[in-house]
Amino acid sequence: MDRDVWLGVNVGGIAMKNPVMAASGTFGYGMDYPGDVLDSLGAVVVKGTTLKPRRGNPPPRIWETPAGLLNSIGLQNPGVDVFLEEHLPCLASKGAVVICNIVGDTEEDYGEIAARLDGAPGLAGIEVNVSCPNVRNGGLLFGQDPRALAKVMQRVRARTRLPVLVKLPPGDNIALSARVAQEEGADGLSVINSVPAMAIDVREKRPALGAVMGGLTGPAIKPIALRMVWICADAVSIPIVGMGGILGWEDAVEFMLAGATAVAVGSALFRDPETPRKVVTGIRDYLQEERMDSIEKVVGRAKGSPGPCAGRRRAG
Ligand SMILES: Cc1cc2nc3c(=O)[nH]c(=O)nc-3n(C[C@H](O)[C@H](O)[C@H](O)COP(=O)(O)O)c2cc1C
Repeated sequence: MDRDVWLGVNVGGIAMKNPVMAASGTFGYGMDYPGDVLDSLGAVVVKGTTLKPRRGNPPPRIWETPAGLLNSIGLQNPGVDVFLEEHLPCLASKGAVVICNIVGDTEEDYGEIAARLDGAPGLAGIEVNVSCPNVRNGGLLFGQDPRALAKVMQRVRARTRLPVLVKLPPGDNIALSARVAQEEGADGLSVINSVPAMAIDVREKRPALGAVMGGLTGPAIKPIALRMVWICADAVSIPIVGMGGILGWEDAVEFMLAGATAVAVGSALFRDPETPRKVVTGIRDYLQEERMDSIEKVVGRAKGSPGPCAGRRRAG
């Protein structure tokens, strides 16, 4: 017999009708997808947005590997002002819960973008992408440099009252980064960004990507991503959005059992835009079969105790 199940989640103050989001950079601004794909999503994270427009890296920028996708898009985007004027109103008018992924070259950039987004009608939150190199500090990623990460978060927190998620790159020090993000006022974490990687074109006898190095996504990275979510869920009490290689509902449930409150689908959208809808249906069936009435009962269950679940909105 069918039982009613509640799929709604709250990620750090961002309320969503279901826990399945579109990962940044893999859904564009939603314009290329039919409306029912948008409707199936709990939230949409738009592509990495910078202060000024960016042209991105030289081609080739995408390369298929046996178990994943390699990309070096290089943050091609129209800049925050065009996002605010053109893309956000359109997405918001369709009823989407929109989160803007932001990227800066300096901590000041992050603060400035956050300030421009603050109070924008229809914007539910900000995802701070700290997986890019901190040029002032020898190229170490912001997300792997606790002091730089703290400065970014201080700038962002000071200039927006929107819920802020910090998107972390994979790495051995992810627990420290997660704690720094929480201490500096992050409302949630997104775990993980792509894994640094490369490929060689044997016929051309040169690196496959124009930028030589890129980021690996897709099924190849799922076990890595799952471990990172598990570690972060032990390190912090703010909610986590898990991502990396989600193809079906079982993958999503694994992330949630490891401690993620919500999940994001990335590369799988390129192969099958119906993936989020299928994942939502699969989660609903799973809850019914497991005789659970709400998705929050799944969160962190593999740890033997309920993990971080309903997020708290920052005061003020
Ligand atoms: C083509 C492409 C572009 C991406 N662009 C961004 C981006 O702009 N900002 C960001 O934080 N992550 C970006 N990502 C990473 C994804 O949001 C996600 O973290 C990653 O793909 C892992 O999920 P998946 O294995 O389901 O694809 C991009 C990924 C792909 C494949």
